[in-house]
Amino acid sequence: MKRFFQSGIVAGLMCCFLNAGAQKDMRALIRKDEAFAASQYKLLMKNVPADKMPQNYDPAKDQLVASATDWWTSGFYPGTLWLIYKATKDPQILAEAKKRLVLEEPIQYYTGNHDIGFMIFCSFGNAYAITKDPRYKKVILTAAETATKRYKPGMKAIQSWNKSKKFNAPVIIDNMMNLELLEWASRNGGSKRLAEIAENHANTTLKNHFRPDGSSYHAVDYDTATGAVLKKVTHQGYADESAWARGQAWGLYGYTMMYRFTKKPEYLAQAHKIAAFILNHPNLPKDKVPYWDFNAPDIPDAPRDVSAAAVMASALLELAQYSNQKQKAAYIADAAIMIRSMSARYKSQPGGSKGFILTQSVGHLPGKSEVNVSLSYADYYYMEALERYKEWILK
Ligand code: GLY
Repeated sequence: MKRFFQSGIVAGLMCCFLNAGAQKDMRALIRKDEAFAASQYKLLMKNVPADKMPQNYDPAKDQLVASATDWWTSGFYPGTLWLIYKATKDPQILAEAKKRLVLEEPIQYYTGNHDIGFMIFCSFGNAYAITKDPRYKKVILTAAETATKRYKPGMKAIQSWNKSKKFNAPVIIDNMMNLELLEWASRNGGSKRLAEIAENHANTTLKNHFRPDGSSYHAVDYDTATGAVLKKVTHQGYADESAWARGQAWGLYGYTMMYRFTKKPEYLAQAHKIAAFILNHPNLPKDKVPYWDFNAPDIPDAPRDVSAAAVMASALLELAQYSNQKQKAAYIADAAIMIRSMSARYKSQPGGSKGFILTQSVGHLPGKSEVNVSLSYADYYYMEALERYKEWILK
């Protein structure tokens, strides 16, 4: 009995020791990748035209694509600069981050689609969190009001894209991410209605987007007057009934974030369900960087989507904060595997990818666009995951 007790202590100490060793490794990885990100983004800033934001880098063409600020990804470059600045306090990065906000600012009035949350909260949200500059907060509050212009009371949701040949009033799972802008604004000087709209949207999505196994459809099309569902399909995934990897990541992040603001148990339950779908899926590779679609027909030869892994890692680290000890440890361990994989196998060569941090993401495979490329949002969520790991796990 005594020997058993002693070996129990030894096992406990070993566990602590291994844990401390793993944490030391992770601390070193984070420090190294923060410095790498700063040096890459100093290169990227030289390669991007002053009136555009970097969107992707395609190694097959050795080509950097930059886009105007009304493209949905425009907020990620300034947002990543702010995250790198937070980590490194590099003045060159700060100067570029401030400059890029000036370019992004008119987007606070943008109503062309639902993406204003991505565009303004990833850029100005980080800038305000770091500087507390009231001018940045004003932009966020204005943008949140702008987002409500696409709210359709009959369907109790924010319409993602405009009516087209394919859709009447589509809502895509990605739209969960835009709710952070509304929830934050509502609690920081904006109207209560902003949070009501966000929660109505989250409830409608909860009702209509998910399958019994916790996976989600990409797009649900609605009748705006009655809220009737017209169809459930995909746009960027492999098939209507498949699980597009980044869509699962947006849902996981979205419901975790909505629980942060509302403490509604149904949002937390949905986040756990999505996490279980992803983490237990037989097609999730050992390095936990998913194929672009969990049902891609050419697995294991299908392209990976590093952007999905970055979003998942960041979301799992937050979900861990709302979980019991056992679940928390498991989510952190899975997020750590994703981070280690991205750092070891999916990072650009120093000075490569025109300055992007990561490689091998997929934007829109069925549209034959952005396959196996660097994407600005993969970099953004990777830096956010590193920051979260440092702040929440290592402190
Ligand atoms: N929101 C568009 C995408 O995830 O590709």
